[in-house]
Amino acid sequence: MDSRLLGDNFKVSALSYGAMGLSEFYGPALPEADALAVLGRVVELGATMIDTADMYGRGQNEELIGRFLKSRRAGAETGELNIATKFGLERSVNDSYKRRINNSPEYIRRACEASLKRLGVERIDLYYAHRLDPAADLSETISTLAALVREGKIGHIGLCEVSAATLRAAQAIHPIAAVQSEYSLWTREPESSILPVCRELGVGFVAYSPLGRGFLSGRLKNVEELASNDFRRSNPRFQDDNLKRNLDLLPELEAVARELAATPAQTALAWLLGRDARLAAIPGTRNLTRLEENMGAAGLVLSDEQNSRLEKAFRPESILGERYTPEGMKGLGV
Ligand SMILES: NC(=O)c1ccc[n+]([C@@H]2O[C@H](COP(=O)([O-])OP(=O)(O)OC[C@H]3O[C@@H](n4cnc5c(N)ncnc54)[C@H](OP(=O)(O)O)[C@@H]3O)[C@@H](O)[C@H]2O)c1
Repeated sequence: MDSRLLGDNFKVSALSYGAMGLSEFYGPALPEADALAVLGRVVELGATMIDTADMYGRGQNEELIGRFLKSRRAGAETGELNIATKFGLERSVNDSYKRRINNSPEYIRRACEASLKRLGVERIDLYYAHRLDPAADLSETISTLAALVREGKIGHIGLCEVSAATLRAAQAIHPIAAVQSEYSLWTREPESSILPVCRELGVGFVAYSPLGRGFLSGRLKNVEELASNDFRRSNPRFQDDNLKRNLDLLPELEAVARELAATPAQTALAWLLGRDARLAAIPGTRNLTRLEENMGAAGLVLSDEQNSRLEKAFRPESILGERYTPEGMKGLGV
């Protein structure tokens, strides 16, 4: 597996793994034994970073990963494995999609201790601010994270969904290893905003929802197929008219996939990995067959002609619907 350097010295597999869906958002939590089997296979297939957040499953996703790490230690498995987690989104008790952004120093310290405990580790390899509060003092937030690095509680600092100006300001205070933002063929905005600045500053880029939340696999045609609590049922891009028009974009991806003897999901991931030498992607799946399919995208190379055909088909202005509800749009691009 090809590796990618995030920041100065944090190396991870180009294809790493996003664990969110094991606990929620894409249906109910997967039974424990199945989720542990997926995580085990993730590592066997060469991924060296698992991405989680304290808010996924309200702590349950980190606890699951904690049990997985414990079972690895019990089996004396020593292969490299980095854990990335996030703080900053406090969820409403009653409404899964309502949350408050909290970046206060006291909260960061409390959240970090709670994540360390749930994960059962002494150090979080990469610790992201999940969202930044525009009203918070950035220097106070980054200085608190820098203190956690000095104390050995976190290895590296990451920021999610930040603007170029914020990244520059943060990097001036302490090295930032990675920016994590949504990026895929159907979310290409990072190309004209944050990605060039990451490149200039030597900051890594971690692409989340790299399969467009499953859309780019070409297998999801209708939200009615999804579990009643699946997040995509309320996501604007998956609503009736938007989804129908968005599905019209897929034939070019399917055509390039056929030329490569690959699947659309593999082709979408390979396109993404080709965008930048310091980019890692964190596709998520609850399914072992799809996991193997996705990891099979490593090493797949598209020609310049194939890249430009895909980029022409998936112009940002051709994608219908915002990527989040108004509540979810809060805190993007701060
Ligand atoms: N920083 C942030 O704000 C943020 C936001 C969202 C996500 N993330 C991170 O990014 C990770 C990945 O994002 P994501 O899970 O939202 O989206 P994704 O990786 O783009 O897509 C995941 C969805 O696609 C389906 N899928 C995966 N591989 C497939 C395949 N080969 N064929 C058909 N369907 C496939 C999965 O269903 P099955 O499980 O049924 O395969 C799942 O529903 C998350 O786990 C999380 O760690 C971060």
